[in-house]
Amino acid sequence: MTPDKTTRLINTLKNKEKIRVLFVCLGNICRSPAAEGVMRRIVDEAGDADRWVIDSAGTGGWHVGQLPDKRMRVHGARRGLTLDHHCRQVRQADFDNFDLIVAMDDSNYADLRELAPTLDAADKIVKMIDFADMATRYDCIPDPYYEGAEGFELVLDLLDDACHHLYTALTPYAD
Ligand code: 4NP
Repeated sequence: MTPDKTTRLINTLKNKEKIRVLFVCLGNICRSPAAEGVMRRIVDEAGDADRWVIDSAGTGGWHVGQLPDKRMRVHGARRGLTLDHHCRQVRQADFDNFDLIVAMDDSNYADLRELAPTLDAADKIVKMIDFADMATRYDCIPDPYYEGAEGFELVLDLLDDACHHLYTALTPYAD
């Protein structure tokens, strides 16, 4: 279930003209670029792309400039997703430039809270799993980097679930 704090934040954003969302994981080559691709497709299919600014970034900088991990691109392509984001690290300006900063796991969440320059900025950080119905079985979007194919499929299933709910929650009259 979505925590009250997250629900309140979402409700303050719901009627905004623009929604600016940044998805964040550790490496920015698996989970967060996939979240970006899933969300982009949802808003495109809804004819709502003009309202949304969607980006992703990593708390770590090891893969800066790279395309998403080949395995994530292959699993995403099977679902019709084009994942062509170039990896970048989270920067201070992100806390100004985005309304919502969505962490994939508890460690990303804690790292982002450390990086947040102000308490108001820290209040923009939420957890992706809080939007997923599958949260009854999972408490985060698990890092697939050292996992097999099932790990990547699970990430895409969780992201699909969470992104659809996030879209509905932020879209007036959608539910
Ligand atoms: P991501 O997965 O955080 O979902 O992009 C990872 C990618 C790379 C590494 C760790 C996690 N790494 O240690 O290089």
